[in-house]
Amino acid sequence: MKRIAVLTSGGDASGMNAAIRSVVRVGYVRGVEIIGVYYGYRGLLTKDFHPLLPRDVSGILERGGTILRTSRVPDFKLTENQEKAIKNMKEEGIEGLIVIGGNGSQSGNLALFEKGFPTIGIASTIDNDLWGTDYTIGFDTAVNTAINAIDKIRDAAVSHGRTFIVEVMGREAGFIALDAGLAGGADFILVPEVKFDIKKITDNMREAFKKRKMHHLIVCAEGAIHARDLEKKIKEYMPNVETRVSVLGYIQRGGAPTRFDRIIASEFGQHAVDALLSGEKGKLVGIKDNKITLIPLKDAITKQKTIDKSLYKLAEEVSV
Ligand code: F6P
Repeated sequence: MKRIAVLTSGGDASGMNAAIRSVVRVGYVRGVEIIGVYYGYRGLLTKDFHPLLPRDVSGILERGGTILRTSRVPDFKLTENQEKAIKNMKEEGIEGLIVIGGNGSQSGNLALFEKGFPTIGIASTIDNDLWGTDYTIGFDTAVNTAINAIDKIRDAAVSHGRTFIVEVMGREAGFIALDAGLAGGADFILVPEVKFDIKKITDNMREAFKKRKMHHLIVCAEGAIHARDLEKKIKEYMPNVETRVSVLGYIQRGGAPTRFDRIIASEFGQHAVDALLSGEKGKLVGIKDNKITLIPLKDAITKQKTIDKSLYKLAEEVSV
């Protein structure tokens, strides 16, 4: 294989640039030409192809976002678009593709693989919801950003004796909420994977008030309930409680990647290039039990990754 394309797709995640840099430089070392595809799958359709050399990826390791830009392309589900993408790549002599992204992005990747094109995925989404990998690029940075925010919000919560509801990202998964909630000392953590009971939460709050604990911190994943809706529900049970809402939003997606995200991104990039060169395809590069691993793409996107229930229980026990 002499020419490999790389693209980033879906939500940007801190560490994507570190992965691009690794793909480009490891590819160079192995004697492979790396073609950067701009704007994800859209770039495959418009032939937004640009050769990348080691110096083109200087100074990006520590930057959030993606220098290749990204997009969400719902139309990439259409067979005609998938076939066009393959045709475009073949016309330019591209023999393999590396897709850096999360669930939706890896579905597109699987479709190309199933149509006979050699592809490898790199697990990258702040949501951390790809099956078979313990971590995805961007998750660690997002969680640390959320923890920093929660630490700061706690100051106002304690000082004013208020109930703060902090909404974190996670459309279908509660990984960010659980880790940030546990590490940030939240009193309640609401995730899509676990049913919650507003009455039970407000009963607990009432008990705490009796013991002169006047503030509460609730961390909720957007996929469990939106903070404003939760606030309304709490007020139904406790009309006099003073609440405030903080939706952390996109600050979780951006910024300099943590040490962990930089390192796994560099490793994932290297393994993705080597996987393609050794004839692997239709696999996702991830990390399991501290070892870089290749997961069948189909498993990664169809199997359900669930939060660690023992960690959830721990969060409940340490918040008494
Ligand atoms: O997939 C990552 C993610 O940040 C989710 O947590 C969030 O729900 C979604 O992307 C938002 O996507 P967009 O920026 O395209 O609206």
